Amino acid sequence: MRLCFASNNAHKLDEIRPLLPAGVELLSLADIGCAEELPETQETLEGNARQKAEYVWEHYGVACFADDTGLEVEALNGAPGVYSARYAGPQRNAADNVALLLQELQDQPNRRAQFRTVVALVLPDGRRPVFEGAVEGQIAEELHGEGGFGYDPVFRPEQHQHTFAEMPLAEKNTMSHRARAVEKLVTFLQQEL
Ligand code: IMP
Repeated sequence: MRLCFASNNAHKLDEIRPLLPAGVELLSLADIGCAEELPETQETLEGNARQKAEYVWEHYGVACFADDTGLEVEALNGAPGVYSARYAGPQRNAADNVALLLQELQDQPNRRAQFRTVVALVLPDGRRPVFEGAVEGQIAEELHGEGGFGYDPVFRPEQHQHTFAEMPLAEKNTMSHRARAVEKLVTFLQQEL
């Protein structure tokens, strides 16, 4: 089964590839000849994930899934949430986003947060299932680690001493929001193969 992952984020492709069953040939946007920015104008994670996957299906005719992730911080009433990528501005810069987050949480004792991912799958027969995964944790006081991407250097998953950026990818994949959502996608795909 040929299946495109509608993301330009190479880190995400690397994360997801080892999680998929053998019968799935994972295609990147480059593999299907898509070099354009995908629309992402909805106000929910599910809306954005569906919008991206649907766009690829409509314009490229390939079965496809897309994800959208948000970091939901309790003391910020769930922000940055669906705006996580653009938190510090339209430049979508991870260092700027993390700096703003630490600034907003300065002197804030409640560091509770969760990453939440929605994966939307578009199948040629018209089915449109969605899968969700989340991981709870704490926002660190400062950056730790060089690995991962995005908010990884400041997110310490529950019951762990290290941030995602301090963990090998294989360890992040045992607990991450995206891995949990993809696990549900995989269970679904296994029934289809
Ligand atoms: P998107 O799903 O690519 O739109 O991600 C939204 C925002 O969350 C971006 O700023 C990403 O860098 C960040 N993000 C998504 N997944 C992760 C992750 O696994 N770790 C850290 N940051 C992430």
